[in-house]
Amino acid sequence: MKVEGIHYRSIWPIGTRAVGIIDQTRLPYAFATLELASCAAVVDAIRAMKLRGAPLIGVAGAYGMALAMNEDPGDANLARAQAALAAARPTAVNLRWALDRMQVLLARTPRNERARAAWREAACIADEDVEINRALGAHGAKLLAGVHARTGRTVEVLTHCNAGWMATVDYGTALSAIYQAHDAGVPLHVWVDETRPRNQGLLTAWELAAHGVPYTLVADNAGGHLMQRGRVDLVLVGADRVTAAGDVCNKIGTYLKALAARDNGVAFYAAVPSPTIDWTVRDAFAEIPIEERDGDELRFVAGRTDAGEGTRVRIADAAVPVANPAFDVTPAQLVTGIITERGIAAPRELAALFPDLRAAA
Ligand code: MRU
Repeated sequence: MKVEGIHYRSIWPIGTRAVGIIDQTRLPYAFATLELASCAAVVDAIRAMKLRGAPLIGVAGAYGMALAMNEDPGDANLARAQAALAAARPTAVNLRWALDRMQVLLARTPRNERARAAWREAACIADEDVEINRALGAHGAKLLAGVHARTGRTVEVLTHCNAGWMATVDYGTALSAIYQAHDAGVPLHVWVDETRPRNQGLLTAWELAAHGVPYTLVADNAGGHLMQRGRVDLVLVGADRVTAAGDVCNKIGTYLKALAARDNGVAFYAAVPSPTIDWTVRDAFAEIPIEERDGDELRFVAGRTDAGEGTRVRIADAAVPVANPAFDVTPAQLVTGIITERGIAAPRELAALFPDLRAAA
């Protein structure tokens, strides 16, 4: 995607000595890039959400392994790096998926060739992510074009969190469909949930504005009201982990949108690249680890002063008890369809789209 005329991916190798990323904690107020030159720096960046979004976390994990192999290609360091990266954020399965893929390759690679092989494989995973999300977005764009053809008016989409290009390597998941539909001339308007407490909706707003897609930022609590008033044609979100049965784990608050959608006869779609599907989980509620983040994310809000300086303001005392679960699970029965790189499936038909991946898991 382009930022002020320059094409960016959200992560890129700097030779084989570092990776570059966009510091998402500074957006939308400032666009700044960072160099991560060690596996530990990648772990910190994932934890602090300098980079975020399930697909991007996976690719960053792969580059983290490559940096670890620069540092020490021995078996012990390979295991240490994999464990440290996997623990950085527990919910998005893309991280585990990418780390497992790196580990399998590196374990059978002679030590003196591991660093080179790791950089090559990480670049492959990044390129595959771009292609998967381009293909997935093309299917989603057809869906949006179909809604427009049926209604003859602007398609009203509600989205939650940021499932845009900066949550992936490029294109995005839910927003890939929106960008491609917009580029094909489908008239669209996007209701953007603010997505407290980390306000990823501001990242979505920033992306949509840069791409020229009409949008309106709304408080997280507004979605049900908008759906009751007939102002939403479909809810379209990304995902952090989806089960073979089609249960969708995504940013906290997604479940409430799906409930409101069901009550109002609004379709609910999740855009899901195949590395986000966890074929091993049988019981989404019991088995998917839901990340519990620091309470200060609720006790403070971040913003910008009138002078344009980034700042944060305390809204609750340190003594205020806080719970901060970062994700929730929307059960398959509330999901209309799952948009993947191989097409769109009803939840119960998801596995039939990927017999090869299911069998390999
Ligand atoms: O906590 P985050 O910002 O990493 O959570 C991201 C989300 O929940 C996205 O909706 C999800 O990863 C899909 S992104 C392509």
